[in-house]
Amino acid sequence: MEKPYAPACDRNRQVILEVLKKIIDENCHHLLEIGAGTGQHAVYMAPHFPQMKWVVSDVAAQSLGIKMWLKEASAKNIEGPIRLEIGKDDFPTDRSFQVVFTANTMHIMAWKQVKSMIKLCGKRLRVGAKMCVYGPFNYNQTYTSESNAKFDQFLKARDPQSGIRHFEDVDKAMQQAGFTLLEDIAMPAHNHFLIYQRRLHGS
Ligand SMILES: C[S@@+](CC[C@H](N)C(=O)[O-])C[C@H]1O[C@@H](n2cnc3c(N)ncnc32)[C@H](O)[C@@H]1O
Repeated sequence: MEKPYAPACDRNRQVILEVLKKIIDENCHHLLEIGAGTGQHAVYMAPHFPQMKWVVSDVAAQSLGIKMWLKEASAKNIEGPIRLEIGKDDFPTDRSFQVVFTANTMHIMAWKQVKSMIKLCGKRLRVGAKMCVYGPFNYNQTYTSESNAKFDQFLKARDPQSGIRHFEDVDKAMQQAGFTLLEDIAMPAHNHFLIYQRRLHGS
């Protein structure tokens, strides 16, 4: 098998890293990446957080490609890949995660899986932990760009269950799972970075 390559990761990795540097502090010891794809984000970003283990996860089919990237990486603080298929698998329970990072997954998963991912994070993350979600979103029932509208059509033609999610739906599900929105950062190429924090039950 040829090593997989996602060109978009080369374009967005630096801007994503700049945001994560503001989110991840010395109290973050474990980050879980959900839907890591090729693993390119982990390989590029993990060395910037040497105090923290970056745990890479995805569905089983991505495992071999991720291993190819990790084999060539110099980072000592990447673990995995572990199989975490949302809808089927649970978090690794041998440690607690202070941060969950997931990029470009919500428009690929079915909405039912997006809700399962959010619920699972609500269940498994402790108070104060962050969930960082990068990708394209619609606001006020509207695409944020012509390119996102075309991208959504492409996604739905390929898989009718996929598609760009409405920020308001994601936010409602996040709130219901016990998260508070800390920041919604507009990113290049009409993407957004949503930073949530697990709050106290009932607060
Ligand atoms: C567009 S790729 C994004 C990969 C990477 N995060 C990036 O930004 O380049 C979407 C990823 O979501 C993963 N994915 C889809 N359904 C999933 C599920 N049910 N559970 C976990 N990951 C899933 C896919 O395997 C794929 O790696």
